[in-house]
Amino acid sequence: MASSTEGAPQTVASDGKSNGVAVETPPTLQVSKRLEKFQTSIFTQTTGLAIKYQALNLGQGFPDFDGPDFIKEAAIEAIKTVGKNQYARGYGIPDLNRAIAARFKKDSGLDVDPETEVTVTTGCTEALSATMLGLLNPGDEVILFAPFFDVYEQLLAMVGATIKFVTLRPPDFSVPEKELREAFSSKTRAILVNTPHNPTGKVFSRKELELIASLCIKNNALAFTDEVYSKLIFRGEHISIATLDGMYERTVTMNSMAKTFSLTGWKVGWAIAPPQLSWGLRIAHSNLTFSTSTPLQWGAVAALQAPDAYYVDLAQNYKRRKDYLVENLSSIGFKVYEPHGTYFVMADHTPFGFDDDTAFVGHLIKNVGVAAIPPSGFYENASDGKHLVRFAFCKDDETLRKAVERMKIHLKPTSLKSTNDSAN
Ligand SMILES: Cc1ncc(COP(=O)(O)O)c(C=O)c1O
Repeated sequence: MASSTEGAPQTVASDGKSNGVAVETPPTLQVSKRLEKFQTSIFTQTTGLAIKYQALNLGQGFPDFDGPDFIKEAAIEAIKTVGKNQYARGYGIPDLNRAIAARFKKDSGLDVDPETEVTVTTGCTEALSATMLGLLNPGDEVILFAPFFDVYEQLLAMVGATIKFVTLRPPDFSVPEKELREAFSSKTRAILVNTPHNPTGKVFSRKELELIASLCIKNNALAFTDEVYSKLIFRGEHISIATLDGMYERTVTMNSMAKTFSLTGWKVGWAIAPPQLSWGLRIAHSNLTFSTSTPLQWGAVAALQAPDAYYVDLAQNYKRRKDYLVENLSSIGFKVYEPHGTYFVMADHTPFGFDDDTAFVGHLIKNVGVAAIPPSGFYENASDGKHLVRFAFCKDDETLRKAVERMKIHLKPTSLKSTNDSAN
């Protein structure tokens, strides 16, 4: 009910009441010092705008289709089974630890002990949190390649680590050897590697990983590797840095169900590391979530038993979508940096005449009806990414087709635009 004071400032007595009536004062937003520089995630912001303007969402990296029914059915079956709905063992139900170890052996050739070297986590995100909180100390130096998945920077801030950034630059986003060598020192505690890489779609080559490995060994540093896109490869091969000589004992390899099985909402992930590193990350994990949803772990057991053909199909389907989007973005006028993996493509938007990525994406959402991600927030220096835009192609064919159609109609490179404008 409207009150006579609506719109006017309230005087609030020290007991939080005004004229004896409790009033709602807007809460002052609060955040710890460690996190005050961070804003609402760019994914939440663009998805909010996409909904407001009814834009087709090629921004946030989740598929608009679901993973296979046989996985869902295994989870449903578990929900219906008495005994599969209570807290799971903290580091994973034994069947899932075994299934993860078996899949890792198949993919990497490495034999790991499911009991002491595999930890089930609540998504790869929690594997990352547990690894950083369990193995780093405040002030430790950690090397991070930019652009980066924004969660990394914020987790490192939560730990109080000092980040040394090394920037990957277009056109191929290759590792700059000199800068990387300079970033490493005896103070380096760890390096974060994400291959295939979000947002660039880069797949780290053997030579690059060998360079990273040699620097880790020389400086006695750890490697934390996020491999959630390991099954989405279009060119080259996925190599786990843990397989390189001298690396397994200093590496935490992380992965999850999210991208490989198109089940991002399940949040079932894992970390594979030698017992001495698993110990630290498990202590953190047991205080973050303690354990991960039991019936969904049963679903994950079924997923990891998928035949090899499943992975072949998955990569082929994404390659088809990637080819379609890359070809069309190029013909619309973007300079496209073709991804070798993941379900993202980075493109240079400067032909369209906008000052920066935020201005371009604002126009794209409001006037074209397509959402994408402005990637400047994924860099140490925002200016390194301001000419770029990231599109996600984990969308059904119809959504991609409509998005391309809208861009073809409403987006014109400035040279063409001025020709058209003068013709009118
Ligand atoms: C590089 C990278 N790592 C981890 C995640 C999150 O994985 P999960 O959903 O398993 O926590 C994402 C999601 O976008 C990602 O892009």
